[in-house]
Amino acid sequence: MYKIALLKGDGIGPEIVSEAKKVLETIANVQGIKFEFTDALIGGCAYEKYKKPLPDETVKIAHDSDAVLLGAVGDWKYDTLPPELRPERALLGIRKELNLYANLRPVVIFDELISSSALKPEVIKGVDVVIVRELTGDVYFGTPKGIEVRVDEDGNGVRYGYNNMIYSEKEIERIAHVAFRTASSRNKKLCSVDKANVLDVSRLWREIMIDVSKSYSDVELTHMYVDNAAMQLIANPRQFDTIVTGNIFGDILSDEASMISGSLGLLPSASMSDEGSVALYEPIHGSAPDLKGLNVANPIATILSAAMMMKYSFKNEQAYEIIFNAVKSTLKDGYRTKDIFKDGDKLVTTTQMGDVICQKILEAR
Ligand code: IPM
Ligand code: MG
Repeated sequence: MYKIALLKGDGIGPEIVSEAKKVLETIANVQGIKFEFTDALIGGCAYEKYKKPLPDETVKIAHDSDAVLLGAVGDWKYDTLPPELRPERALLGIRKELNLYANLRPVVIFDELISSSALKPEVIKGVDVVIVRELTGDVYFGTPKGIEVRVDEDGNGVRYGYNNMIYSEKEIERIAHVAFRTASSRNKKLCSVDKANVLDVSRLWREIMIDVSKSYSDVELTHMYVDNAAMQLIANPRQFDTIVTGNIFGDILSDEASMISGSLGLLPSASMSDEGSVALYEPIHGSAPDLKGLNVANPIATILSAAMMMKYSFKNEQAYEIIFNAVKSTLKDGYRTKDIFKDGDKLVTTTQMGDVICQKILEAR
């Protein structure tokens, strides 16, 4: 039996996590395994109840589980709260608490959705990229940081805002190992993305990547500056296999890469620590407060995140394949939520999409 913590969060979070839970229950039935689900609050909904976006209780439930499935956090109504009380802070907090330094963001292209992409079919056909994003360092967590008044040369007070882009060699080394292992299990090409022509932190990053590459003779390591990588991802995404990069570059590049697939609503992610520790799975998209409660959100990114949980946390490759193929077959039959709907498709709600995917899982038996 596996214990799964469900951190549904805000906005569309509860709706999409409910569909992923349905899929997990269906898989459990089909495979004769058992999951025990525990709900915990995170983000704005936790703030409402505890005046804290990440309550201790939630951290404890996450620690005590075998894996965590998270929906999304955030709502405009919390935009005026001080930074430490905002929902996004809970996301950063749980990543730090669970030491989830490695974030895997696969960019999967479903042939069935090639026409949903803003890019030309011939550019995106066959794209299969994984972005390995460092998740617990960089400007996100670096100190010193803040907003303060400093006196300028005329003696006037001027406000400065600053963050620190900082990585230790240990932090770079451990994400490098995850990236090389990932590349080694794929097409054995690793592209490290940095800004080493300008930033010292990137020079260290590059040096460590080269050091670590010596232990992985089967993987070919290349380097690319982040501005060029942003351009290359659109111009010729097929050139990439595995990409490794820091927290902020990875945040930006993964949203960009999601557009190759046609919708932000499709891409899952896994956030992991050292082997054997609890991992967290979440869609890469946000809480979309404008869609909340309308039953229109696309649950596929969360369902595929649950599939990644099967593969990485529970070493159940078969369950991963079953879920992935069920999604593929659902799309092939023309079922589409609003975000990917085109004339001639079958428009479905969030819950209907979950139902069809569960049905496909049962049919595959
Ligand atoms: C993501 C999100 C988060 C991040 C925000 C919501 C804090 O954009 O998971 O990519 O920047 O990491
Ligand atoms: Mg992001």
